[in-house]
Amino acid sequence: MLRSFRVQLAVRFALTMLVVIAGVGVAATWSLRVILQRELDATLLQLAEVEVLAGASTSGPDFTFHEGVLLARTRLPSSELTRYGELWDAEGVPVVRSANLGDRDLPLPATAMAEARRGVPGLATHTWGADRLRSLVYPLRLVGAMHGSHYLQVAAPLAPLDAVIWRFAGLVAVLGFTGAAAAFGGAWFFARLATRPAEQIAAQAQAIEAGTLSAHITAHAEVVEYASLVAVLNAMLDRLRAAFDAQRRFVADASHELRSPLTVMRGDLDVALRRDRSVEELRAVLARMREEVDGMTALAGNLLLLARADAGLPASALGEVDLADVVDRVVARSAGPAEAAGVVLTAAAQSAPVHGDAALLDRAVGNLVENALKHAPRGARVAVRCAAAGGVATLEVEDGGPGIAPEHAEHVFERFYRADPARGRDAGAGLGLPIARAIAEAHRGALVLARATPGALFRLTVPLAGGG
Ligand SMILES: Nc1ncnc2c1ncn2[C@@H]1O[C@H](COP(=O)(O)OP(=O)(O)O)[C@@H](O)[C@H]1O
Ligand SMILES: [Mg+2]
Repeated sequence: MLRSFRVQLAVRFALTMLVVIAGVGVAATWSLRVILQRELDATLLQLAEVEVLAGASTSGPDFTFHEGVLLARTRLPSSELTRYGELWDAEGVPVVRSANLGDRDLPLPATAMAEARRGVPGLATHTWGADRLRSLVYPLRLVGAMHGSHYLQVAAPLAPLDAVIWRFAGLVAVLGFTGAAAAFGGAWFFARLATRPAEQIAAQAQAIEAGTLSAHITAHAEVVEYASLVAVLNAMLDRLRAAFDAQRRFVADASHELRSPLTVMRGDLDVALRRDRSVEELRAVLARMREEVDGMTALAGNLLLLARADAGLPASALGEVDLADVVDRVVARSAGPAEAAGVVLTAAAQSAPVHGDAALLDRAVGNLVENALKHAPRGARVAVRCAAAGGVATLEVEDGGPGIAPEHAEHVFERFYRADPARGRDAGAGLGLPIARAIAEAHRGALVLARATPGALFRLTVPLAGGG
């Protein structure tokens, strides 16, 4: 299931915005409520003091409210400015009411009354039927001893204050949803901007094919966030192109190598067919053709071997192989050719168990020894050594020949490369070293020309079995 980065980004952005605005909104609404209530409490205290001072000259039931100050004369509808007043005696018996109360008493909140009895104005929020009220109970003894036993209660309906707070909360909610919607839109737009380069890079990459591998991706290569992606893709293209070119060269060379003997055979056949030939003559032609066919068979075998080594080792052929055994076998096999070439072949093989394919390793070592014997002059030495150290099996083949000239040294591992084509048929196809290296690499090892002159020294390394 594909997920859209754009939708995700926009949704997360909008939700974040909503949460932030909701948090700010709740805090702001709460603060507004506290501020408005303090304001209301201050007006209640002020009102109580005004009424108390105005009525201080009278006492008890003669106390009169200044109704003009308790602004709203009727009880309903309660407005922001509606205030009620009631005078109580020490026992909590009503003495005088403001006109807008009619014949109803205000509920006297016990907590506020208790404070007033202690001599300080007491505040409380309480209900009155369906309404909510904020009340202040003021002890009259604060203004005169003769009023010592009376308490003035002034009250304001909380509905107008609540209405303001709800209106404000509604506004915040509208702002919140509008902000979230705007955030969603903005994120949608910017996500498009942010992802468009990736689409353009992908489009350029898609246009590159086998034939146009030399092309590079240029889109957004100068943008910090995309430069590394573009660089990685271009590096991958370079590697692909190099591998592709090598493969193309390999196929061309292989075709060429296979065609040469065919051309020779074709020429022999033409000559043989030009006139009647004796049985001996025909026999000689067939013998030459047989040689060519052997050569082609060997070449085809080598090509197959390279292809297999390139593809990696098949698990079925893998096992524990002691390189020392491989060396022993190769040296035993080469004793005859070495003697024929007048070369002294020596072996010093220490046990070096590796995990691999015995036949392939045999082939790699065989190729190195074969080259050494081919290039070492009469009387020279060829030494094969094998040892295990530091988790690595090391095999060296050193010869007392002329070695390899520097201009050839860097190419001898290339497929079909021959340093001395003058050697003609004897020189081989130039696949011996590439095959040996491919085998080493298939074993997670390496083959290097450790010393080019005087006398070539090839070093093959493979990780030891069981060790790191
Ligand atoms: N021990 C060596 N001494 C000198 N030259 C060598 C030696 N081994 C390889 N070479 C050079 O490297 C080239 C590539 O070797 P190789 O891949 O085995 O191809 P081939 O043996 O088929 O020519 C050879 O043509 C040869 O000139
Ligand atoms: Mg060779």
